Amino acid sequence: MTSSSPWLERAAKRVAHAPIGPAIEEFGRVRTIGDGIAMISGLPSARLDEVLRFERGQLGFVQTLDRDLVGCVVLDDAEMIEAGDRVRGTGEVVRTPVGPGLLGRVVDPLGRPLDGGPPIEAVAREPIEAAAPSIVERDLVKEPVQTGILTIDALFALGRGQRELIIGDRGTGKTSIAVDTVINQRASDLICVYIAVGQKSSTVVRIIDAIRRHGAPERCIFVIAAPTVSPGLQWIAPFAGMTMAEHFRNRGQHALVVIDDLSKHAATHREIALLTRQPPGREAFPGDVFYLHARLLERAAKLSAERGGGSLTALPIAETDAGNLSAYIPTNLISITDGQLVLSSRLFQADQKPAIDIGTSVSRVGGKTQAPALREVSGTMRLDYAQFLELEMFSRFGGAPDARVKAQLARGMRLRALLSQPQYAPLRLTDEVALAMALRDGMLDAVAPDRIASVREALPAWLDQHAGPAVRMMESGGTIDTERRDLLSSAVRTLVQAP
Ligand SMILES: Nc1ncnc2c1ncn2[C@@H]1O[C@H](COP(=O)(O)OP(=O)(O)O)[C@@H](O)[C@H]1O
Ligand SMILES: [Mg+2]
Repeated sequence: MTSSSPWLERAAKRVAHAPIGPAIEEFGRVRTIGDGIAMISGLPSARLDEVLRFERGQLGFVQTLDRDLVGCVVLDDAEMIEAGDRVRGTGEVVRTPVGPGLLGRVVDPLGRPLDGGPPIEAVAREPIEAAAPSIVERDLVKEPVQTGILTIDALFALGRGQRELIIGDRGTGKTSIAVDTVINQRASDLICVYIAVGQKSSTVVRIIDAIRRHGAPERCIFVIAAPTVSPGLQWIAPFAGMTMAEHFRNRGQHALVVIDDLSKHAATHREIALLTRQPPGREAFPGDVFYLHARLLERAAKLSAERGGGSLTALPIAETDAGNLSAYIPTNLISITDGQLVLSSRLFQADQKPAIDIGTSVSRVGGKTQAPALREVSGTMRLDYAQFLELEMFSRFGGAPDARVKAQLARGMRLRALLSQPQYAPLRLTDEVALAMALRDGMLDAVAPDRIASVREALPAWLDQHAGPAVRMMESGGTIDTERRDLLSSAVRTLVQAP
């Protein structure tokens, strides 16, 4: 080779550097596609949970592995996928963006904006499945989560790191309790993640709108998987939302996650299981539905001081059918969580709202965390209320009750009026303490039950004006000294005595 053109030289170089031998590229083919599930053959090295990429860019993840078929849950629109399409493994698991860039945003479970805003600026993309903190990494649940709902804060106090199930029939106010709890965090440092799975768009719009109007939306993340999106996207929503919240928990911050709701999530899980031909068990759910929700909710935790002391509180919601708490999913969830707030349609119809059933609700850890000032004045409230409900039932049978019973009934009626509370009007800790104190000390006995709502409405402004030091002390530490307690007490007394 004496003379050569530059073109020939370049070509010779390219040939010299070309890899020699066959290039191996593994791809499978879609055998069947439908209902958001693709069955794929020819992917022998695919792993569970691995993300697969379809010919036209859609993503899915491996849900089942058979001898020669891979069951893949499609995360994107499956309309464009056809039988015969090529599919490649990515070696990756499903990830979602995390970081403060999500605050104030409405996103889908993969972190894609649904609010028309710019793409999320993420700190990182984390796997949607994460191991729950181990026992040694945890601490006791010992700081309160104030919901602003008197029934909960006084009778079923919640703590940071707790998992409390909100359960009841459709339309009994489950979502409303969660929304009010999120709204009340405008006065706290909790970061809220609201996960809506399979909820109607009109409902979701109402939730977001309420929180934007009354709460602190700049500290909330809305993770939305509408009923119209692929089952795969609905399935990953709670896991993705948890990952977003864990980011804050792991940095010593405090997060609250609402999952609205796990009944719909379980139904999606069942649908996917049946389509991927997993054997059905009780109520046609696959056998792993307990494990599914247990591993999800175990991620809620109060971390030890060595791990930064952060917390993640979970409020999963479940829907019952005709109040049946012993159906499969409700019993599972009740046994996984640290307590439940049971909503009753009977109470709801009787206009007792929030319709929390005192007899069947419980908070198994939060009681110890209750703000001391509130615990002091509401200690016997639950028992008093239960006794009143029983007395009331018996007094319907007639007979002339004696004076003591009459007084008990009168007190109970005022307590009931106190516990019914409108939406979007969470109470501050001071207001709750003042109301409980007023009841305990008999200040409300002379107030007609139907006037109690107006007392409660006037209370916050009144206390700010007449018991400022008490309000400030309470808001800063959850405790109150004798002097300020007396101030609070006399301020309430003058309010209830006002004509
Ligand atoms: N404390 C309350 N006071 C008045 N209305 C309420 C209260 N809580 C809920 N509601 C109303 O009850 C209806 C059902 O509530 P929602 O939270 O959507 O129920 P669910 O989530 O259980 O289906 C809504 O129209 C809501 O405005
Ligand atoms: Mg709801």
